[in-house]
Amino acid sequence: MLIRHGGDLTENDVTPRDVYLRRRDFMSGLIGGGLAMAGGVAANAQAATGLKGVASPYSTTETPTGRADITGYNNFYEFGLDKEDPARNAGSLTTSPWTVKIDGHCNKPGTYDIGDFLRGNPLQQRIYRLRCVEGWSMVIPWLGVPLADLLKKYEPTSKARFVAFETLHRPSEMPGQRRPVLDWPYREGLRLDEAMNPLTIMAVGLYGESLPNQNGAPMRLVVPWKYGFKSIKSVVRISFVEAQPRTAWNDSAPREYGFYSNVNPAVDHPRWSQATERRIGEFRRRETLMFNGYGEQVAGMYRGLDLKKNF
Ligand code: MTE
Repeated sequence: MLIRHGGDLTENDVTPRDVYLRRRDFMSGLIGGGLAMAGGVAANAQAATGLKGVASPYSTTETPTGRADITGYNNFYEFGLDKEDPARNAGSLTTSPWTVKIDGHCNKPGTYDIGDFLRGNPLQQRIYRLRCVEGWSMVIPWLGVPLADLLKKYEPTSKARFVAFETLHRPSEMPGQRRPVLDWPYREGLRLDEAMNPLTIMAVGLYGESLPNQNGAPMRLVVPWKYGFKSIKSVVRISFVEAQPRTAWNDSAPREYGFYSNVNPAVDHPRWSQATERRIGEFRRRETLMFNGYGEQVAGMYRGLDLKKNF
């Protein structure tokens, strides 16, 4: 990100719309009966396929990017800096067993097995745009659970104003962590209201299958109105904190990456414009939309905040 950008892509196929719609009908047709519960996903985190999720009104109707691009063109610096490195190297990551540590200002801190962490929360299918700070974008059919539903179970107290997230730190399986590219582990954070916003999800799958390792298995955050780097992968720790938490990219280059990182075409990155983006699989550039097009749902959270200062 800081190190490389604009590296060029191969133009892989976009899933034909009819194939995609059939898949979607299949998944949403099972509402109510035999719904895959997220706890079940975790029990079989590496092998599950054919996951089902309730279709969500929050989804975009845009055509999703082809699966090959979503799973083959990634940023996951724990596995290397090139876009192809995560798909090549992330197979080494063991995702089961997997625990999540919950700490900070809440009534139910503890270390929870991922199955317990997710249990009882039906999967939803959320088709979201992802806009990377580097200037490319995708449309991804996630399977996930609203983060709010998960966080509420731990009963954050009135002192909790932010939520901090951490990725696994395991250099033996994450070769990128053997080099000081970032101050590992990768960290991210949200204000509590952002974390509780109905658009924010913890994703455990995409395209009807559990997350491939390179996309952040077994679970990763998805915050669709923010630049992609806020969507932290392979999460092992969630902390309810009082002060704004540190984040990996803000630590690394504070002038370039702010805490908020809301998609904003009016605020340039110091080294390039953020006004347009290239949708992977297309050649023409599109205009980048304020809040990545999710303004109706999220603009209210930032009323009165100077988004140029708080970039
Ligand atoms: N999470 C971790 N732990 N490490 C990373 O390097 N990269 C971020 C984000 N989450 C990253 C991460 C960036 S820059 C982007 S654009 C998205 O993941 C990419 O998600 P994708 O590869 O699933 O498209």
